[in-house]
Amino acid sequence: MATFTSNMCGIVGYVGRSQAAPILLDGLRRLEYRGYDSAGVAIVDGDHVEMRKCAGRIASLAKLISQKPAAGSYGISHTRWATHGKVNDENAHPHFDATGKIALVHNGVIENYQALKEQLIQNGDTNFRSDTDTEVLAHLIGSIYGQLEGKDSKARLVNATRAALKQVIGTYGIAVVHSDIPNFMVGARRGSPLVLGVGKDENFLASDVSAIVAHTRDAVYLNDFDLVALERDKFEISSIDGAVGQHAVSKVEFSAEDIKKGDYPHYMLKEICEQADTVRDAMRGRLTYEECTAKLGGLNMTPPELRDVARVVLTGCGTALHAGRVGEYLIERLANIPVEVEFASEYRHRNTPMTERTLVFAISQSGETADTLGALRESRRKGYRTLGICNNVASTIARESDGGVYMHAGPEIGVAATKSFTSQLVILTLIGLLLGRMRQLSTAEGKRMIDALEALPGQIEEVLKLSDQIKSIAKKYVDVSGMLFFGRQFNYPIALEGALKMKEITYLFAEGHPSAELKHGIIALVRPDLPSIFIAPDDAVLSKNLNNIEQVKARKGPIIAVTSGNGAKQLKDLAADIIEVPDVIDCLSPVLTVIPLQLLAYHLAVELGRDVDKPRNLAKSVTVE
Ligand code: M6R
Repeated sequence: MATFTSNMCGIVGYVGRSQAAPILLDGLRRLEYRGYDSAGVAIVDGDHVEMRKCAGRIASLAKLISQKPAAGSYGISHTRWATHGKVNDENAHPHFDATGKIALVHNGVIENYQALKEQLIQNGDTNFRSDTDTEVLAHLIGSIYGQLEGKDSKARLVNATRAALKQVIGTYGIAVVHSDIPNFMVGARRGSPLVLGVGKDENFLASDVSAIVAHTRDAVYLNDFDLVALERDKFEISSIDGAVGQHAVSKVEFSAEDIKKGDYPHYMLKEICEQADTVRDAMRGRLTYEECTAKLGGLNMTPPELRDVARVVLTGCGTALHAGRVGEYLIERLANIPVEVEFASEYRHRNTPMTERTLVFAISQSGETADTLGALRESRRKGYRTLGICNNVASTIARESDGGVYMHAGPEIGVAATKSFTSQLVILTLIGLLLGRMRQLSTAEGKRMIDALEALPGQIEEVLKLSDQIKSIAKKYVDVSGMLFFGRQFNYPIALEGALKMKEITYLFAEGHPSAELKHGIIALVRPDLPSIFIAPDDAVLSKNLNNIEQVKARKGPIIAVTSGNGAKQLKDLAADIIEVPDVIDCLSPVLTVIPLQLLAYHLAVELGRDVDKPRNLAKSVTVE
């Protein structure tokens, strides 16, 4: 039985007058954050397709192409993140149909590929080279294309793609070319993102605008069940069912410059260092001193509707979920509304009792995470008003939600989420402030929050100055077997986030826990080669944290403390290393305390020689379940 090989990847297509190979390679480099297990291109040269593909990164593909160039002015390309099945040359995309004339790249999962494959085999098609679901789709399109009549080969390819997709159960963002049909490409999406870039005498397809923004800032964000036929100078979008639709061309918010590393060695460091600006951008124009509250017009809710909210659900995955966990404390503190935080992957499959007047927020940097999108759809299906907190403008979650708040953090390329996290924290604070000021929060308290928010960018600059100190600390701990992270209240989720950053880019074992949980089991792990990092600012629970720190110290566990205010003095004899951040009101401290943890993970990963921006086995945008 063939191995099931699905993918969660990046695709780029080009039809124009320039050589396709450099454009496709450059686009793939921009999408490498989506997956980096294998890569490939199919470029049409005259009447045949030149395929180059291999396991490994885009650099390996570029080397292959430099050794064996592929000429031609239209083609498709792919960078893969494998979920099941081997990472090898055969499973790399593109894939051909049985005739070798149709080439296809795919981002998604064809769930019924086995049944489709058996049907093709029964009809005599046995020429499969890979284990992939994608190759089955290429064969299916080819088989239908062969059966269709008519001289208009473009219409035949469109109709064959349409007919094949109607048989597919699963998700896809695809690009298809046929070597007999010059300068023509078909794209379609369902469940996986796909954007059309509109250029001058050239058009593009990509999983994400960052792949094409160097060539055009005019984009059409395709919807699920859209199919696009593109040529150099025109495109036509219709639905999989055949209905022709209207689509607006949008201006991409950022430029090619914004997605360059500049002088930074890694995107992650660049993005950590951008946080004073991104936090400022997250609140820009959203605070009002007159009423001491926040203005969030994108929520699309009237004051009576906001006042009527009786329960809030925050959902997301990974770092976005951790932001939600801080949001739980924040919104309950500021607005006194019960908040639940749900793993998107669990929430979407759970039978949660319906409670009226519930407002659901789906938090996602990319706006494309499959589990979060699934949670959003399930929540809307059940009738809840569901809002998005997204960074990527026009992403699927942003478009499918009833309203929301954009982060305006700019492109985040490093696989480890950093600046999006602090933007999410600011936005959740604004939501808490808005809901709070409609309830019990006084004008004075509202003003205090606004003052504290406005001071944050300057304080972040101060924290960033600690980078060298944190680098020296990282060097001291380069031989440890792992790290434990502890915090209380607003900083318990920061312990979770610190541990996630540490494990994902250093590959060290790391866990985050509420400080008080130590004595309920975790303390058994404490030993000299396993440092404990306490996030213990000078807040209402500092003395409680100090008790837990004493317990670790008594068992010879090394301690690194992130603290503020009087904390440093009290920790002097307890912690081996003290990282001191500026003092801030307790509910905003996570915005400052998380940055040293991002930097600690970063510097340790560099010391360990890890691939910081593309950690092993990971991808930035997780578009499979
Ligand atoms: O794009 P999203 O915010 O929906 O992504 C969610 C997670 O996949 C993401 O935060 C992941 O955990 C990061 N790699 C963590 O650094």
